[in-house]
Amino acid sequence: MKRETLNNLAPLLWYSFGTIAALLQEIVSIYPALSPPTLSASAANRACNALALLQTVAAHPETRTPFLEAEIPSYLFPILNTTSEAKSFEYLRLTSLGVLGALAKVDDTEVVKFLLKKEVIPLCLRIMGTGSELSKTVATFIVHKIMLDEVGLQHICATPECFFEVANVLANMVVALAEQPSTRLLKHVIHCYIRLTDDPRACAGLRTHLPEALRNGTFDNCLRDDPVAKHVLQKLLDKLASPAGEAPHPGPGPAAGGRHGEPAPAGPSHTP
Ligand SMILES: *[C@@H]1O[C@H](CO)[C@@H](O)[C@H](O)[C@H]1NC(C)=O
Ligand SMILES: *[C@@H]1O[C@H](CO)[C@@H](O)[C@H](O)[C@H]1NC(C)=O
Repeated sequence: MKRETLNNLAPLLWYSFGTIAALLQEIVSIYPALSPPTLSASAANRACNALALLQTVAAHPETRTPFLEAEIPSYLFPILNTTSEAKSFEYLRLTSLGVLGALAKVDDTEVVKFLLKKEVIPLCLRIMGTGSELSKTVATFIVHKIMLDEVGLQHICATPECFFEVANVLANMVVALAEQPSTRLLKHVIHCYIRLTDDPRACAGLRTHLPEALRNGTFDNCLRDDPVAKHVLQKLLDKLASPAGEAPHPGPGPAAGGRHGEPAPAGPSHTP
C-alpha cells in the first residue's frame, strides 16, 4: 500500500459512512462464541482483521480522540476478559491488546485517564499473569506507559492493596522468567520496577519485595547482549540499596555502574 494511503486510512475509515459500525458488527458478532469458548479459527480471523483496522484508527492523531469519545475500546473488553488458552483466543486477545497499546503509546494524560477509568490495569495484570509471552509483553508495555504518567503512577500507588497487586504480578513474572527467559519481557518488567521507585512508598515497598532473582545474577545471561537493560537493572538495585531511595551518586548524569559498595570510578568525569 502507498504511504499516503496508509497515513489517510484512519480518517478514511472513521469518516466514511457506516464503516466503523460494520467493523464493530464484526467484533460484536463473536461475543456469543466467547463464553463458553466455541469460537472458530475463521471467525477469530475476521474479528482480528476488524481489530487491526480499529488499531489504525486508535493510533492516528486525528481520529484518536473521537475514537475514545465514542468509547470504542469498550467493545474490546469482553474479548480481553476471556481466559481460554486456545490459539484463536490468544490471537484475539493479543490483537485487542494491540489496539490499547496503540492508544497507550502516545504520552497523553487524557488517554491514561481513560484507560484507568476503564479498569485496563486489572485486565492487563491478569494477562501479565497468564498470557503468552507476546501478550504479556504488550500488557506490561501498557501498564508501564500508564505508570509513566504521573496520574497513572499515583493511581497505582494510591493504596497498598493496589501497589502490591502490581508488585506481586511483576514478582511472579520474574520467577516465571527465570524458568523461561525472554529478554524483551524482562526489560519491560525492569522498566516497571524502576518507574515504581519514583514513588517513595512504592520504593519502600520494593526494598522488601523485589524478587531475589533480580539481585543474584539469575538474569546475567539473559541481559548479556543488552548493556542498556543491564544498566537500568543496576540503577534499580542501586536506588533500592541507598537509604533515601536516591541514586548513590548525587549530581548530574546516570549513576556510575558497579554494585553499591563496590569501588566506583572516582568522581564524575564530565567535560563541559
Ligand atoms: C470479566 O469477567 C469477570 C469474571 O471473570 C466478570 O465479573 C466481569 O464482569 C467481566 N467484565 C467484562 C467487561 O466482561
Ligand atoms: C537466585 O535466587 C533465586 C530465587 O531465590 C534462586 O532460585 C536461584 O537459585 C538463585 N541463583 C543464584 C545464582 O544464586
